[in-house]
Amino acid sequence: MRDLVKSGKVLVNSKPVSDPAFKADPETDSITVGGKAFGYSEYIYIMLNKPKGVVSASRSPGEKTVIDLVPPEFKRNGLFPAGRLDKDTTGFVLITDNGDFAHEILSPKKHVVKTYIACLDRAIDSENLEKFRTGVVLEDGYECLPAEIKVLSEDGKTVEIKLREGKYHQIKRMAAACRSHVNELHRCAMGNLFLDDSLQQGECRLLSEEELALIK
Ligand code: URA
Repeated sequence: MRDLVKSGKVLVNSKPVSDPAFKADPETDSITVGGKAFGYSEYIYIMLNKPKGVVSASRSPGEKTVIDLVPPEFKRNGLFPAGRLDKDTTGFVLITDNGDFAHEILSPKKHVVKTYIACLDRAIDSENLEKFRTGVVLEDGYECLPAEIKVLSEDGKTVEIKLREGKYHQIKRMAAACRSHVNELHRCAMGNLFLDDSLQQGECRLLSEEELALIK
């Protein structure tokens, strides 16, 4: 926000603010940033299209994080990604400062479905497709919850997978248990909320209350 104020883009009651310490009253003042109305809300919810090479963490010395991709007008203290994607996975990351909301959508009891598109090095045979649907057993003996899997391409190498849990490297480990390797992984939805396809990789936007409700 400090940089935005210095750039002269922040207007309070149509007058540019030059002092970053200036306190506006969101109840009574009209605040615009770059010509757009700025409404204060207790918590913020951001949809990011994560590119490869970016870490799903608030801080990671020497590496670019998803929080580094949040533009200044959405930046606040306490932002974190609600759930992690691997560094080489792309797609929908929800960033918020509301710990209770994150806890709710990540809780194994809530079973919020996350939808992924995976490109594999080889097709999964029908026996292993059935294992996905009943519960793949990972290399450490953990039995996954039943997942949905749909073959999307003729060669069988592109699949849509819906998970109700989020174990470390889960899809890669499920594929490995079925003798397949994930070349590319993309998260396209959380609950019933799909990644906005107008967001280029690395771009983000705020979510509305209606969109948030689609996640739960
Ligand atoms: N499963 C994985 O293996 N990686 C991810 O990033 C998400 C799900």
